[in-house]
Amino acid sequence: MRSYSLIAPAKINLYLEIIGDRSDGYHELAMVLQSIDLADQVDLRSLSTDTISVRCAHPQVPESRANLAYQAAALMAAEFSDAFAQFGGVEITIDKRIPIAAGLAGGSSNAAAVLVGLDLLWQLGLTQSELEELGSQLGSDVPFCIAGGTAIATGRGERLSPLPSVDNLYVVLGKYRHLDVATAWAYQTYRANFGNTYVNKQDLTSRAAAVHSSSMVQAIIHEDQVQIGQRLHNDLERVVIPAYPQILQLKETFQNAGCLGAMMSGSGSTVFALCDSEKQAQKVHQQGRMLAQPSDLDLFIARLTSTGVQVMSSNKD
Ligand code: C5P
Repeated sequence: MRSYSLIAPAKINLYLEIIGDRSDGYHELAMVLQSIDLADQVDLRSLSTDTISVRCAHPQVPESRANLAYQAAALMAAEFSDAFAQFGGVEITIDKRIPIAAGLAGGSSNAAAVLVGLDLLWQLGLTQSELEELGSQLGSDVPFCIAGGTAIATGRGERLSPLPSVDNLYVVLGKYRHLDVATAWAYQTYRANFGNTYVNKQDLTSRAAAVHSSSMVQAIIHEDQVQIGQRLHNDLERVVIPAYPQILQLKETFQNAGCLGAMMSGSGSTVFALCDSEKQAQKVHQQGRMLAQPSDLDLFIARLTSTGVQVMSSNKD
């Protein structure tokens, strides 16, 4: 049976600005996204039957159609029905290392790996932009998870412009195990509280485009690590932090430990501390461990990386 093992990296948001409402019900965003080397492993194995199955030992990850990785395979089967008929179904096994419901795009990255892996398994020869277009039908972060690296993301988050990579930095990630934030809730609450600040629909595109000349993007282009740390921004903190004050406590712990900057990622609840060296990351990690209930707090050290989904190994027997 043919099989592929893929690495599906997490992402953090170095910058997340909510510009306004879109006609499709989503929000127009201006973001800078960054891949990190904390990653899930996604194994795809051809089946002789026409079934799609998902296996994951993590108790909170569904093995049903609710899993975005399943939906990615179903989308590929519908789009490429001849290949699905020729090569058969697929068993998807996810080794979950990225915390879930954490603002790290773990589910989106798993779906991205399924798209990339099925393209290979079914010998489709799709281009990266074709894969990203399919990905955008599954979720706003999926195209970035395919591309990876450092990128400006506008629109729903699916319109990407690559930036020079910021590889030589580390992050410490902190995620309270029992603190899961639903992305839809975070955006709806933001709309309810700050919708009056949104720009007019006709101005959305030009306002989002302004991120290209923002100080965060300038800092990345000039490899100015201190400025990158100082320009970290996430509008969603304005609604998530008041609801979950532990997030602020964690952020302040990271900041006081001495890092380039600390910020919540995406809709949370993960907080990351950007660090200029492994040594600094270890110091911040140590301070995180000294928080009041460390047993409920998962801490990780990761490196920024310039790659998205990668094939790790294949078996073509
Ligand atoms: O695209 P994705 O499924 O990841 O989005 C999850 C939820 O986050 C959406 O249902 C929507 O409520 C919210 N969202 C949004 N605007 C975006 C991206 C996500 O309002 N640009």
